[in-house]
Amino acid sequence: MQIVATITETRCIIQKARNEGRRIGFVPTMGALHEGHASLIRAARRETDFVVVSIFVNPTQFGPNEDYQRYPRTPEADWALCRREGVDLVFSPSVEEMYPPGFCTWVEVTRLQDVLCGRSRPGHFRGVATVVLKLLNIVQPDIAYFGQKDAQQARIIRQLVHDLNVPIEIRVCPIVREADGLALSSRNAYLSPQERQHATVLYRALQLAQELVNQGECDTSRIRQRMVDLITATPGATLDYAEIVDPETLQPVAQITGPALAALAVRLGSARLIDNQLLIPQTSSVPGVRNEAQSDI
Ligand code: PAF
Repeated sequence: MQIVATITETRCIIQKARNEGRRIGFVPTMGALHEGHASLIRAARRETDFVVVSIFVNPTQFGPNEDYQRYPRTPEADWALCRREGVDLVFSPSVEEMYPPGFCTWVEVTRLQDVLCGRSRPGHFRGVATVVLKLLNIVQPDIAYFGQKDAQQARIIRQLVHDLNVPIEIRVCPIVREADGLALSSRNAYLSPQERQHATVLYRALQLAQELVNQGECDTSRIRQRMVDLITATPGATLDYAEIVDPETLQPVAQITGPALAALAVRLGSARLIDNQLLIPQTSSVPGVRNEAQSDI
């Protein structure tokens, strides 16, 4: 496995692999890698012949009072995971390499960037869209892999690739959860043992939403209220948002008539956690979509 920090070297190594006829898979990350990232790498391994992982804590997607400085940085453990999972190349650039002096071009995916997390984190998705487009241009993979846990991010990247004619396939892989349902996230490291116990409330709220839908409830304001009640009754939990939206437009839906995305952001101590689930009405069947609420986690 090669570990490189420059764009020139990265391009050179990938070009050689491409010349050998290999298909390039790409997993962009901010490091602090866990099983969720490992599942993306495994998907890339299955589908492509040369797997690139980027590790870059992107400063432009953090607000001024957010956790950029203390975001977990665990390079040795990350390299070990990448090695174990058969990654071919790790691209780990400096901030100066990605944003040299004079940098002044930004990518905005309007509308989709302004709702859900975009409302409480202004500028976040501008930073994400910009760095992801840069990374896709640097690596030029055949397929790039993202996690469904960041559902809004995944939706924005699909739109960006479509709108800007980026010739890359985007795969969105299922959320990986702990045994008690907590979605894996690098930010789970911020939780105290007690907050960690309470953090299952996100998953429990999403399950409750699906149960209500299973019982025939279609009114999203009633479903949303039950999720809010559960979260606000949890010690130490502060609700950022709980919404039920159209998975494509990310706009709120009033009635569940087809698959709808329940999305949550909750603060617990110094951690802001997000989670989501596609709510499927009993009568609706979506090819390829597995309803996690009906799984036996
Ligand atoms: O999901 C992440 O880890 C980041 O937002 C990404 C896509 C690597 C961009 O910095």
